[in-house]
Amino acid sequence: MAEVLLGVSGGIAAYKSIDLMRILQSRGHGVTVVMTASAQRFVGPSTFSALSGRPVGVDLFGAEERPGYGHLDLARAHDLMVVAPASANTIARMAAGLGDGLLNAVHLAFDKPVLIAPAMNTRMWLHPATAANMATLAGRGVQVIPPTSGLLADGDTGVGRLADPVVVADAVEARLAGAGTLAGRRVLVSAGGTREPIDPVRYVGNRSSGRMGWAVAAAARRRGADVTVLASNVELPREAGIRYVEAPTAAELHRAARAEFPGCDLLVMAAAVADFRPAEARAGKIDKGAEGRLALDLEPTDDILADLAAARSHQVVVGFAAEHGAAGLERARGKRIRKGLDLIVHNDVSIDGIGFGAADNEITIIGADGEESLARMGKDACAERILDAAAALLPQGA
Ligand code: CTP
Repeated sequence: MAEVLLGVSGGIAAYKSIDLMRILQSRGHGVTVVMTASAQRFVGPSTFSALSGRPVGVDLFGAEERPGYGHLDLARAHDLMVVAPASANTIARMAAGLGDGLLNAVHLAFDKPVLIAPAMNTRMWLHPATAANMATLAGRGVQVIPPTSGLLADGDTGVGRLADPVVVADAVEARLAGAGTLAGRRVLVSAGGTREPIDPVRYVGNRSSGRMGWAVAAAARRRGADVTVLASNVELPREAGIRYVEAPTAAELHRAARAEFPGCDLLVMAAAVADFRPAEARAGKIDKGAEGRLALDLEPTDDILADLAAARSHQVVVGFAAEHGAAGLERARGKRIRKGLDLIVHNDVSIDGIGFGAADNEITIIGADGEESLARMGKDACAERILDAAAALLPQGA
């Protein structure tokens, strides 16, 4: 069982951290609470100390045994830090790297997993300053448990409610369970969608945002892997500690994938690769006046995944199958076998709110030994489940 450091910052939702603490305790974890000054205006430290049976950290200079070093001792003694609720102010201080209160100082000294569950008014959540701070923290590997939508404390309705304490506790446990399961492994992830040039300004492309591949890469990094991402036209923020190789077209992706594949232990091919490309890209911009009608001559691209899977030595190979409609699952099963994959991740792109560009996905993980159909969940959670399945197939002791 783990030692969890629960950071509570200011906001109406601070009372919900009591629930979170009790859920974590009931699952067998030790919980120590650290509160900011403004959190104490919403819930008293004595509530947390009575229920946790431990002193509550409120003052950077308050530790009696080692005055001034309490933050370092707390960081050392805990396996994971979760800040819930994380206010806009605490998020900004974490992003800026300030160490001016106990919670912020512990965060700076904390070199193990950090999760944050933001809660604030919608307008504060959507403010570009908060968005930039969130991107900074995500870029450093801080895991975000996104706020939900609904009625807020001040009567507004919108995004900003603290995630349900059970959801936060589940994320904490998933993180504790997954930590280190890919330590020392080299993971190659392809993400995004390729664009095949028609002329210097136009292309044949697809709607893939790269979110799913990005989530897999971040989750693999959190599990201790050495991660390389082959990025095909992805405009999402990049994470320090992950290596990125640009691969805008199918041909460039194929070249880069062939170069990287022999050195990896696990390939997760999440990119939407164009199946066809213009046989010849025009050197100059096509003049619509001169053309009248335009017929594109498209030639098939190579199947990169099938090519790599055929060339593997020890690698575990995972593909995706974005299928349309009810018969898609059967097509995905066939694709796994035809392409020689260990796992294929199926999702139905005809369902609203999941897949291309969306934050959520609803996947079935298909392997030789069985299938796992998962309920709709965020792409980060999907990534964890995909890596659980893939990690179980890696040769041990390699
Ligand atoms: N893929 C690939 N190279 C291609 C096309 C697809 O490596 N030229 C990979 C994708 O990254 C994905 C998987 O193969 O992981 C499935 O892609 P999909 O396009 O659904 O499969 P296709 O082989 O194109 O099958 P279909 O015959 O249904 O078009």
